Amino acid sequence: MTSKTVAELLSQDGTLQDVTLKGWVRTFRNDRFIALNDGSTINNIQCVVNSENFDEALLKRVTTGAAVHVTGELVESQGKGQSVEIVVKTLEILGDSDPETYPIQPKKHTFEFLRANAHLRTRTNTFSAVMRLRSSLSFAVHKYFNENGFNYMHTPIVTGSDAEGAGEMFKVTNLDAKNPPLNEDGSVNYKEDFFGKETNLTVSGQLEAETYAMSLGKVYTFGPTFRAENSNTTRHLAEFWMIEPEVAFMDLAGNMDLAEDFMKSVLSYVLEKNSEDLEFLDNRLQKEEEKLPQAQRSDMSLIEKIKFVVDNNFKRVSYTEAIDILRNCKPNKKKKFKYIIEEWGADLQSEHERYLVEKHFKCPVILFDYPANIKAFYMRLNEPDSEGRETVRAMDILFPGIGEMVGGSQREERLDVLKEKMKALDISEEELWWYLDLRKYGTAVHSGFGLGFERLVMFATGMGNIRDVIPYPRTPQNAEF
Ligand code: 4AD
Ligand code: MG
Repeated sequence: MTSKTVAELLSQDGTLQDVTLKGWVRTFRNDRFIALNDGSTINNIQCVVNSENFDEALLKRVTTGAAVHVTGELVESQGKGQSVEIVVKTLEILGDSDPETYPIQPKKHTFEFLRANAHLRTRTNTFSAVMRLRSSLSFAVHKYFNENGFNYMHTPIVTGSDAEGAGEMFKVTNLDAKNPPLNEDGSVNYKEDFFGKETNLTVSGQLEAETYAMSLGKVYTFGPTFRAENSNTTRHLAEFWMIEPEVAFMDLAGNMDLAEDFMKSVLSYVLEKNSEDLEFLDNRLQKEEEKLPQAQRSDMSLIEKIKFVVDNNFKRVSYTEAIDILRNCKPNKKKKFKYIIEEWGADLQSEHERYLVEKHFKCPVILFDYPANIKAFYMRLNEPDSEGRETVRAMDILFPGIGEMVGGSQREERLDVLKEKMKALDISEEELWWYLDLRKYGTAVHSGFGLGFERLVMFATGMGNIRDVIPYPRTPQNAEF
C-alpha cells in the first residue's frame, strides 16, 4: 500500500482498494466527513468515517489543523461536490491540534491576520494556491531560459558596488558597531572590516551578469535582491527576487522582444499547469471586486487578464510620446495627479505609469528612450534628438494593476562615453575597474533587463499586496519569521 497525494487520488479514474494518505484536517463535519488537504492541490479529499467503528476519544482528536494518517478505499462519491471519496478503514492522529488556539479556523481571515501568522497561512486555500503558482512560475523561468540557450549564473549577494547608483543598500559588516576602528579623520576604517572594504547586499546582479554575457553570450540570474528604500507600498519589498537576463550582441529592440516573449511564455505555462489554482484565485478576486463600486471593478477576470497578455502585443512607446500623452491628458490638465507633468525630462511616477497602461493604452506598455539624467549610469547614450535632448536606450515595461514590472536597457559599450558618465556622476573607476575592462577587451553591443519576480507573481495571482506573494516578506520595521 503506497502513500498517495490528494492530487493523485482526485485525478484517479475508478476505485482503488487500499489507499493510504497523510494530510491536515481542514474540517470534520457531523462526526463523519473529514475534509483532508495535503498541499498537493487546492482541493480537499473527503474521507468518510463510520463513527461506530472508531473510538469516540480518537474522533475527538480529529480537529481542524491536526495531522492525520488515513487508510481506506477510494470509491465513487455518494454525495455532491466531489467525484471520489475515501471510506476510512484506519485513522491515526499523527499530530494533534488545539481547536481553541489554532489560528487558521475554517472561516474567512483578513490578509493582515494571515500575514501575522505567515508560518501557517499556506494552510489556507488562497495562500497555498499563491505559493504553488509562485513555485510553478519559478520553474517556468528556468525552463524558458534553459530551452533558449541561456546559462544560469549565480551572482554574488555580497558586493562592493552599487549597481543602480541609488545608494539604497544594506551594509554588510562584522565590525563592532559600538567601537569600530577609525581613520585619523574620524571615519570608520573599513580596511579592517571582514572584506577589507565597504560591502553591501546586492541591489542587482546586472554588472556581474554583464561580465558573463561577454563570454558565455546569453546568461541570466534569478536570485535575492535587497533594497533599503523606505517605501512602505504594496509593491515594494526590502528583499525580493529578481530575474536578470543579459545577452551579448543584442540591442534594445532585441531586449524588448526577449522580455515580451519571456513573460508570455511563463504566463502560458501557469495557465495550463495551474488551472485549478488560477480558477480558485479568479473566483476569489471576483468576490473581492463585487464589494467595490462598479467603476473600480475590472472588465476582465484574472484568467482573462493573463490570456490577454499572452495573446496581445505589448505596446511600444517612446518616453517623448508618453510625455505628450500625459501632458495633454485629463487628470494632468485638471491637476488630479499629485505630480503634474509640465515638461520633457520629468521622471514618471507610478500614477503616470498607471494612467498610461490602465486608462490610455489598456495593455502592457514598453516605454523606451528615457532622458539620460533620470536613468542609471550604464545605459547606452543615444545621439541627441532633433531638439538636442539626451536620451538613453532604456526600457521599462508597465503592467496594468502593477505599474513597473521590468526595467532594462542596452548597455553603454563605449569606454570613453562610459568613463565620462561615471566621472560626471562621481562613480569610482577604481571600484569598477573590472566593469571598464569589458569595454577595453572585445567590447560589443549588449543588453538585458531585470524583472521583479514578486510583481510577476502578483499579476499572475491577482493578489494586491506584494507581502502576500512571498513566503516571509521583509519590509521596513518587519523581519518576523
Ligand atoms: O528597475 P530596476 O531597479 O532595474 C535594475 O535593477 C537593473 N539593474 C535591471 C537590469 O537591467 N538587469 O529593477 C528591476 C525590477 C523593477 O522593474 C521591479 O519589477 C523590481 O525589479 N523591483 C522591485 N520589486 C520589489 N520590491 C522592490 N523594492 C523593487 N525594486 C525593484
Ligand atoms: Mg526601474
